[in-house]
Order: sequence, then C-alpha cells, then structure tokens
Amino acid sequence: TIKIIKVKDRNEGGKKAFELIKEAIQSGAEVFGLATGSTPETLYRELRESDLDFSDKTAINLDEYIGLSKDHPQSYHTFMKKQLFDYKPFKQTFIPDGLGDENTEPEKYDKIVDAHPIDVQILGIGTNAHIGFNEPGTPFDSKTHKVTLTQETIDANKRYFDSEEDVPRHAFSMGIKSIMSAKKIILMAYGENKAEAIARTVHGPVTEEVPSSILQTHPDVVIIVDEEAASQL
Ligand code: F6R
Repeated sequence: TIKIIKVKDRNEGGKKAFELIKEAIQSGAEVFGLATGSTPETLYRELRESDLDFSDKTAINLDEYIGLSKDHPQSYHTFMKKQLFDYKPFKQTFIPDGLGDENTEPEKYDKIVDAHPIDVQILGIGTNAHIGFNEPGTPFDSKTHKVTLTQETIDANKRYFDSEEDVPRHAFSMGIKSIMSAKKIILMAYGENKAEAIARTVHGPVTEEVPSSILQTHPDVVIIVDEEAASQL
C-alpha cells in the first residue's frame, strides 16, 4: 500500500522523511538504503544537523556511475561523503564501485545487499519514473545490473557536469527486486516535472514501462510530495 504525504516544499519534505527515519530507528531499523540526486538533499541536511547516531548503522546506496572513481567530484561516493557520511559516520557504507569489473561488480553488490536486508529504502524518482537507475523496461525481478542511461536521464543529470559529454552513459544500479525487498520505502518527489511520474506511480497500471509502478504491490510505501509533484494525483 502507498501512503501519500503532501508537504509545502522540499524543506518540509526533508523534515517529514527525517521523522519517519527517526521512528524507524526507534523501532530497530539498522540498514538504510540511500539515494543520491537533488531530492534527498533536504533529508540529508536534517540528518546532518540532528543528534541521531548512525555509528552502529549500515548504509547501502542504490547506484554509481560506471567509469567514475570514488574520488571523482561527480561520483556518488563523493556526493554521499559531502552530503552525509563526512558528518554522520556509519558503521559501514556500501556503494557500487564505478571502476569495478562489469562482469563481477553486480554479483558482488548483490551479496552485500543480501547480507544486509534493508529496513528503510530512500528513493527519488526520475521524470521517466525510474527508481534507482532502473529505466523503463527493466524487469521487475532484476537485481544489481549494468544500466544504459536513457537520454532523458542524461539530460536530467547533466546539470552536475561541465558538459553533456561528461555525463557517464552507464551505471551500476541495484535492481527493482532488491529495492522491493526493503521493509519500508520512502519515496520523495518535488516539482512539476515529477507530477506525471508520481501520478503513474500511484494510479497507473503496474508495468515494467513504469518502473515505480511496482511500488503499488509493496506493503509499506510512503510517498512524500510537494504540491507541484502532487498536481496530477
Ligand atoms: C539516485 C537515483 C535516481 C534519482 C532520480 C531523481 O541515486 O537513484 O533514481 O533519485 O534520478 O533525481 P533528482 O533527485 O536529482 O531529481
């Protein structure tokens, strides 16, 4: 079941998500599935500024660009350090290795995900309804895999790079099955350009053409949306 929480803006959304994480920790959550991108930034700010202790917790990130080293300024390793890990040390953090061997990295990452069942998964959503980097057409039973990013995703993410040519064309991403195995999922979406994806997530047919639509079949999903992202609901 999907529960919708409407908020005024992304600041309020970050606070709401923070409250849910705090409650989850009070109920024993230890493993957190984390996302990058602009959407979770207000949540990470709340976490940074809080007195929550993550030193006995585990973080598992969704994805990483193939070809970027851990210390590359645009890598998701760097993003997570700057947004959260440099301020809130975790017991252990995992992110796919962008320089890992394409033939073995997915399986290696699946072993990590399987060994640390995710209690709370944080998600953003693409304008094409991707979750993680699982683009439309990705099988619902997918585990970690190499992804070819769509032009839409490359366009959306080029704002972080000097030029479009610098945006990696491929990524490693946790699969949809891995995401669905999380006990609780918190998806956040802000802005008009997410409105259609949110409407298709909540009301549309459950189809691999709309990766996020599978969330309709998960027992515990909370979607936090601002007024613009909720405008087609
Ligand atoms: C990031 C990720 C992506 C983003 C999505 C939205 O780890 O997996 O699915 O959540 O592309 O990106 P933003 O938040 O930048 O709009």
